[in-house]
Amino acid sequence: TPVQMSPLLKIHQDATSFYHHVLLTTQAGERGMKYARERELSEELLDHFQIGYAPNSENVLLTYLRGKGYSDDNLAKSGLFIQSKDGRLFDRFRDRLMFPLGDESGKVIGFSGRRISQDKTEAKYMNSPETEIFTKSKALFHFSEAKKAARREGHLVLYEGYMDVISAYKAGVHSGIASMGTSLTDQQVYMLKRTSRNIIVNYDGDDPGVHAEERAAKMFQQAGGFNLGIVVLPEKLDPDEYVKKYGAEKYLEEVKGALSPTDFFLKRLAKKYNLKNDRERITFLSEAVKQIAQLSNPVEQDLYIDKLAKQQGVSKDSLKINLMRERRRLF
Ligand code: CTP
Ligand code: MN
Ligand code: MN
Ligand code: MN
Ligand code: MN
Repeated sequence: TPVQMSPLLKIHQDATSFYHHVLLTTQAGERGMKYARERELSEELLDHFQIGYAPNSENVLLTYLRGKGYSDDNLAKSGLFIQSKDGRLFDRFRDRLMFPLGDESGKVIGFSGRRISQDKTEAKYMNSPETEIFTKSKALFHFSEAKKAARREGHLVLYEGYMDVISAYKAGVHSGIASMGTSLTDQQVYMLKRTSRNIIVNYDGDDPGVHAEERAAKMFQQAGGFNLGIVVLPEKLDPDEYVKKYGAEKYLEEVKGALSPTDFFLKRLAKKYNLKNDRERITFLSEAVKQIAQLSNPVEQDLYIDKLAKQQGVSKDSLKINLMRERRRLF
């Protein structure tokens, strides 16, 4: 017997096709199509990600779904509508490019809508509220597709935004997922752990992005068992902007050149000091050795001590003495 799909899942499935259809084939969708073209979203991409358009109307989706026989009770529970004090329902998403958010098996459980208008007082992205089927802290955009690709590509790549996943996809990274902003959760880390131990984090190259990479790296390290790579893009670009500016090939090189967490942390640390000044350089070196002392693998310790010695023009032996002291202090 076929598994009965819950009404909330059915509603999301129908809303996804509705928005997609509106975008691609209707007059009302032309505003959405114009925006999609500006963002260089081809029809192939619009199809793969099932992107749609929510027209600027207070009840087109409502009317459509009522026509399909859904009860107002289920429609209210879906999160796709806002409810007035007297209980009336209105379309929540208006004049937005719609990104469906799927669960682990690809069933749509919520949406995020990108503002199209220039009105900056409106939030850039509007998300579904928490519902029976949608939990924000567990949502990962493109997860079910990325899981399949991860088996081929050997890793998952974590992004901040939907457009980053999409442009990376266009560039050839099909294992991209997004955590809906920079606040990665423990639940998401757990979901990733069951999928691939090899994770590449590629948040935006701006300060909040790099800061969030630091936080994410610590969370992955805390969870343990991950082989982590971290990409820091230049010029504060996000992956979408980078792909558009430098092209697919350069982008794939950036991904291949992902830093180990230790390299990432040491680079961040070095930025805090004026290394031309001896006093500051000495402080940097002792802080760097403290970082390296945290590593449990002696081969890794040796590798980074060697690198640091060469970079800073000091002897490896003296750094090693400090490393031993630090490890005795720690363990
Ligand atoms: N985000 C959000 N609400 C906002 C801003 C951001 O939920 N008001 C989430 C979205 O998931 C977004 C991600 O945070 O994709 C990253 O934010 P940001 O870098 O500001 O947006 P971009 O993804 O670069 O958006 P775009 O390229 O469409 O401008
Ligand atoms: Mn289609
Ligand atoms: Mn950002
Ligand atoms: Mn961004
Ligand atoms: Mn962007």
